[in-house]
Amino acid sequence: MGKRLVTLPFPHHFSLKAHLMGKLIALGTALLLLAACSPSKKEIVIGGLFPLTGNTATYGQSSKQAMDLAVAEVNRDSGIEIAGTRMPVRAVYEDDEGQSEKAANACQKLISRDKIAAIIGAVASKNSLAIAPICQESRVPMISSASTNEKVTEAGDFVFRACFIDPFQGMVMAKYAAFTLKAKKAAILFDNGNDYNKGLAEVFAKKFAEYGGAIVAREAFTDEANTVDFKAQLTNIKAASPDFLYCPNYYTADAMIMKQSKEIGLSVPTGGGDGWDSPELVKIGGAAVEGCVFSNHFSKDDTSAAVKNFVRKYKQAYGAEPDALASLAYDAAMILLSALRTAHSTDPDAVKEAIRTSTVAGVSGNITFDEKRNPIKSAVILRINNGKQEFVERVGP
Ligand code: PHE
Repeated sequence: MGKRLVTLPFPHHFSLKAHLMGKLIALGTALLLLAACSPSKKEIVIGGLFPLTGNTATYGQSSKQAMDLAVAEVNRDSGIEIAGTRMPVRAVYEDDEGQSEKAANACQKLISRDKIAAIIGAVASKNSLAIAPICQESRVPMISSASTNEKVTEAGDFVFRACFIDPFQGMVMAKYAAFTLKAKKAAILFDNGNDYNKGLAEVFAKKFAEYGGAIVAREAFTDEANTVDFKAQLTNIKAASPDFLYCPNYYTADAMIMKQSKEIGLSVPTGGGDGWDSPELVKIGGAAVEGCVFSNHFSKDDTSAAVKNFVRKYKQAYGAEPDALASLAYDAAMILLSALRTAHSTDPDAVKEAIRTSTVAGVSGNITFDEKRNPIKSAVILRINNGKQEFVERVGP
């Protein structure tokens, strides 16, 4: 390269400048070559941020497996064309352990270290609330697969979700308690340090009262990941003699709550939200969770072609049935992958626009976004019967 510089047709007094320019050109060429060889230019990197360990680990495991499935399908289909070149998609995962500080750090890492084009996650609303401002600020499109707290997408126009929101989910269970179970007096037991639990408790209370019921006890604890004894709260609840108990927490805490409720002699129909969807609910709760009901995004027993097909593929890949988390992570990944395909680009604005205007026939329902970047979808009610989730009904938006 140095030799070629000498032959550059610059007048003598420009030679130093020319020499420097030549160096710069050489450097530029080398960088371009490097970039062309570096994997980041020949593949599309997307991030997945899920709780792979901790008290909500089954959420993360299911989500990751489903996202892997979506990515594998697209790659089998020879990837996605970006600016005229077909590229494979590579997913990189980070574990938020169900904690918001870890989620924020992991999100930063995915953005600065892995240079992700977009992110799928988080699961827990409090973690999505922690990463949404980071994604917005860094202009990285984010699709939370499962965070239902209303505020998540308020961080800005780069933030989307694949699931319904809690004002709807809370209403669904309030209706079921008031009209199907004909409950008059409800109690609520929830984690007041978690946006999801707090938000859902509020909606339920408001709606149940609207439907003519009374909230006779409202008991709380802080940090379900570190709480194992709920008997003091349950004793207060028992004294109020409710005919329905609403527990809008995650599966580990709620399974323990239902167990301890029986132990203190409080036998009351109990309901919850999507946070109950884990094989661990029955493993931990055993007989105490029999007959309990919860709202969810998906039932593996749905007879629609989309669900049947997904259940078959998932079982084949992992030897287990998919849960709502899997269906949502798969749908979130499909929204993103099809947006990349439409945009022919990983430019954040182009991808964000393609997501915003997309329509995806998902496993968890059809997804189009409203002006707040939330999809409008139906919910299902499931009941635990003989240790299995039994489909009760579907409730439209
Ligand atoms: N909706 C829960 C939240 O926002 C997460 C969740 C979704 C858990 C689906 C289980 C199933 O925190």
